[in-house]
Amino acid sequence: MDYVEKRMNDEAAKASADGGFLTPLNILLMGVVAYTTYSMLRPTPPPKPSRDAAPTIFRTYTPRSLLPFNGEQGAPVFLAVRGKVFDVSRGRNFYGPGGPYSNFAGRDASRGLACGSFDEDMLTKDLDGPLDTLEGLGAEEMEALQGWEDRFNDKYDIVGELVSADAYKEKNKA
Ligand code: HEM
Repeated sequence: MDYVEKRMNDEAAKASADGGFLTPLNILLMGVVAYTTYSMLRPTPPPKPSRDAAPTIFRTYTPRSLLPFNGEQGAPVFLAVRGKVFDVSRGRNFYGPGGPYSNFAGRDASRGLACGSFDEDMLTKDLDGPLDTLEGLGAEEMEALQGWEDRFNDKYDIVGELVSADAYKEKNKA
């Protein structure tokens, strides 16, 4: 190998060892990859609460005080399932006036949902009496009710608890 050939080989080896990788294009590509990775891993700040969102106030309802929340004249639509009061106003088409499930609006819907029935009998008759203990329901009905409750938990906000008129009085004595 003569001198010129040896020099050329040396130069080629040197170029591929350093300058070959750090070309302007590769540097640019590394920058793009680094920025994309950073963007993907960067923690996102929590969304700011909207100014328009009405604050949710957790309240205690009785069957009687729940009744006006039936969606009529623009009222919100609430219903109760096993002592939890859900704001189902987003499902106004289902529960609002004229909706297929409007019988549940402003009521304890537990028994009706468990039995898959819209019968008037399913709803608490005496609004000042005890809550429905769901006595007499079988395992299948309780399972159906659990399914509805899970769905409501996912879909709607809980805005309060439902207690009997007596329990309410007791609670507010102190
Ligand atoms: C002929 C029988 C029925 C038909 C065709 C029917 C149809 C429907 C349809 C299409 C939906 C909407 C599903 C969705 O978009 O998420 C729905 C939801 C619902 N149905 Fe029925 N349904 C029937 C019977 C019942 C019965 C017997 C009950 C309980 C008593 C019931 C309670 C509900 C409830 C609570 C919802 C959920 C609404 C929500 O997401 O807030 N349905 N039904």
